[in-house]
Amino acid sequence: MGYLRENIEKVKGYEPGFQPKETDVVKLNTNENPYPPSPAALKVLTELSPEHLRRYPDPLGNEFRQAAAEVNGVEPENIMCCNGGDDLLTIAFRAFCDDNRPVAYPVPTYSLYPVLAKLQNCETIEIPFDAEFNLPGKLAHTNAALTIVCNPNAPSGSFIGVDELASLADELSGVLLVDEAYADFAEANCTELVKKLDNVIILRSLSKGYSLAGIRFGYVIAQPDLIKGLMKVKDSYNVDAVALAVATAAIKDQKYFSETTEKVKKARGFLTEQLRDLGFEVPQSFSNFVLARSKNSQAGEIFDKLKELRIYVRYFDLPGLDDKLRITVGTDEQNNKLIFALKEILS
Ligand SMILES: Cc1ncc(COP(=O)(O)O)c(C=O)c1O
Repeated sequence: MGYLRENIEKVKGYEPGFQPKETDVVKLNTNENPYPPSPAALKVLTELSPEHLRRYPDPLGNEFRQAAAEVNGVEPENIMCCNGGDDLLTIAFRAFCDDNRPVAYPVPTYSLYPVLAKLQNCETIEIPFDAEFNLPGKLAHTNAALTIVCNPNAPSGSFIGVDELASLADELSGVLLVDEAYADFAEANCTELVKKLDNVIILRSLSKGYSLAGIRFGYVIAQPDLIKGLMKVKDSYNVDAVALAVATAAIKDQKYFSETTEKVKKARGFLTEQLRDLGFEVPQSFSNFVLARSKNSQAGEIFDKLKELRIYVRYFDLPGLDDKLRITVGTDEQNNKLIFALKEILS
């Protein structure tokens, strides 16, 4: 018998996007925000006292819960802090799934879900999206303990209407987790559903909209009973004192948040047009990345050539995705460098 549980032995593990050491590259591969975090968040970071580090942090992160509740028009009891959105996903699999309690989700989507399912030894019910990434009707009838819909979806950038997700949640016997890691770049979100439906859990991340991928901070919005259940599963101190202080300052600075997310959304429109002009098929994105299909299926080659030029985008060698590049929306300068390089490569 090996040291590891059999399913751990078998699972390949999640492969995060490449993180180059150099900072002078064009990095459009892991959907980070190209703008710096709020100056208010950076100020808090420089003002942290030794006491902040000597003592354990507030296990519930109540100051952040209060601030996030105000921003979202809910109560602090509806919020739970987590160590990045990925922490919530792990907590949710542990809370809802086991070998008799499957997870269901439409595919293609965030490739962490099947990895977490394998670690938890639970069955995955994967329902393919159609070509337009509409919500598959079958998702309502799987009897899964946990159904996940990533909205906007990664890597497609597509968006499913809130009413459709409300109907889905209503039909499910289990929990609906809406992964809103990219909702900061969309025109709507599912917060209102939590007020009406006791089986909806919303995941939020400060990595993208708030430019804080480095500190690892996310949060959950759900009804208090579900929040209490999830709190039993989380680590006692799942968010550290530094992250808590920085994240609280960042979410309070809604003016800066709106300015930077609007800049990204504007650049996304421009990037989409330029990629279309170069012959890529680019569906409308509601996220901070676009999925560009190379009509003559050269996506893998283009990816390699861009990498040689130290321009990093994401390529998934998977069915349905192997003719596409997922490109994070960067600053105007980064986007221009990418377009210039693509023109050279395709000429
Ligand atoms: C769809 C999706 N959900 C959740 C996350 C988790 O984000 P984080 O753990 O950085 O908050 C990511 C990160 O890339 C993501 O793409």
